[in-house]
Amino acid sequence: MTLLETDRLTLRKITVDDDAFILDLLNQPSFIQFIGDRGVRTLDDAREYISARFIASYEKFGFGLYLTSLKENEIPIGICGLVKRDTLKDVDVGFAFLPQYWLQGYAFESASAVMGYAKNILDIQRVVGIATPDNQGSMRVLEKLGLRFERMIKLSEDDIELKLFG
Ligand SMILES: CC(C)(COP(=O)(O)OP(=O)(O)OC[C@H]1O[C@@H](n2cnc3c(N)ncnc32)[C@H](O)[C@@H]1OP(=O)(O)O)[C@@H](O)C(=O)NCCC(=O)NCCS
Repeated sequence: MTLLETDRLTLRKITVDDDAFILDLLNQPSFIQFIGDRGVRTLDDAREYISARFIASYEKFGFGLYLTSLKENEIPIGICGLVKRDTLKDVDVGFAFLPQYWLQGYAFESASAVMGYAKNILDIQRVVGIATPDNQGSMRVLEKLGLRFERMIKLSEDDIELKLFG
């Protein structure tokens, strides 16, 4: 069931059947570097993670991260959506794509649709973005979405400082 559609992309909820794609995405060196190592190493791990994180978010908040696929052939290329973290007051926009699909405007295109959905359908008036200070690509996407650097934050005591865009 498609939730959002753009010129080139469709977004839908992630299910446990997306285990192989999620296993691949979460083990990309870029994902581990800029987002974190989720410790997902097997298809079983992936299914567990999908249930505990993605599906749990849909059930708890009514939103979450969505599978983002090419409209023309339904091939999944990444995830994009909304995240509510325990340690951050605001909802933040999140995205991650397989490297072969970078620099083609897909992050901006999907995240624009997600921002519109947050504001117009979910009535969330403030959506922020967070990125590690060395994540040029992510910061550029957030700026293109109209967000501006506000301050440095830490999601937990022992975490590194992140840039918050709002
Ligand atoms: C960050 C990421 C999502 C960007 O995706 P993308 O589809 O390549 O982004 P877009 O093609 O929509 O690019 C949007 C803008 O950012 C710029 N951009 C993208 N990646 C860039 C990079 N590595 N360095 C500098 N600029 C970059 C693009 O040139 C474009 O700007 P422009 O329109 O002014 O030319 C992608 O690199 C990724 O998945 N990285 C790993 C996961 C990650 O870091 N997620 C974000 C966590 S906060």
